[in-house]
Amino acid sequence: KLRQIQGTSLEGQHYLVTAGGTREYLDPVRYIGNRSSGKMGYAIAQALTEAGAKVTLISTVNLKVPVGTEVISVQSALEMQAEIDKLFPQSDGLVMAAAVADFRTAEVATQKIKKNQNQGLDLQLTQNPDLVATFGAKKQNQKVIAFAAETNDLIEHAQTKLQKKHADLLVANDVSRTDRGFGVDQNQVTILEPGQPNETLPLLSKIETARLIVQRIIKLSVGEN
Ligand code: CTP
Ligand code: CA
Repeated sequence: KLRQIQGTSLEGQHYLVTAGGTREYLDPVRYIGNRSSGKMGYAIAQALTEAGAKVTLISTVNLKVPVGTEVISVQSALEMQAEIDKLFPQSDGLVMAAAVADFRTAEVATQKIKKNQNQGLDLQLTQNPDLVATFGAKKQNQKVIAFAAETNDLIEHAQTKLQKKHADLLVANDVSRTDRGFGVDQNQVTILEPGQPNETLPLLSKIETARLIVQRIIKLSVGEN
C-alpha cells in the first residue's frame, strides 16, 4: 500500500488533463480569452506522470511537458469537447484544469470584422456547453476532477459546483488574490469531495499542489480496491 501511495500507484491508468484558457474566435484574427496560463494543468500532468499514469494533455497553450505526455492542441471550448469526447470512454479519468470560456460568439465571421465609422461593436454571445458537467454525467468508472475559480464565497460556490458537475473531486481556487492562482507559480486551494471533509492546502508551488491533488486521486482509486 505504501508503494502504491508513493510511486507507481497509477500505473496502467490513462488520464486526460485539460489546460489553459480557451480562445473563442470572433473572426480570423480576434478572440475572447481569459487569464489562465495553463501552468496548473501542466503541473497536474507532471504529477500524474510521476505517479505512473499515462497522460494526454488537451491544451490551448504550449508549455514544457513531461516525457511521454501526448499533447493535443485545441483553441475553443467546442474543439476541446470534441477531443475529450474521442478519448474519455477509454480513459480512467479527466482533470478539467482548463479555464473553459463560458461564452462564445454566436457566429464566427469568416472575414476580419471592419471598423464602421465611429461606432462600437455589439457582440452576440451564446453559452458554451459545460464540458466537465457533461462528462461527469456520462462517466462510468472514470474519475472526474473539476476546478472552481471564485472571487467570493469560495466554499459555498465550490460545493454547488461539486454537485452540479458530478465531480469526484473539486479543487477550489481563490482568484481574487494576485499572489496565487492566475499566471503565477504558486497556488492555494481547497479540495472538496462528496461525503468527505474539505482539505485546505497551504500556499505551495503549483507542482507541490498538483502532487497533493494527485494523492487524492490515488486515494479515490485505491479506495475502490
Ligand atoms: N468548465 C467546463 N466547461 C465550461 C465551463 C467550465 O468544463 N463551459 C469547467 C472548468 O474547466 C472547471 C469547472 O468547470 O473545471 C469550473 O469552472 P468555473 O468557471 O469555476 O465554473 P462555471 O461552472 O463556469 O461557473 P461560473 O464561471 O459562472 O462561476
Ligand atoms: Ca466559468
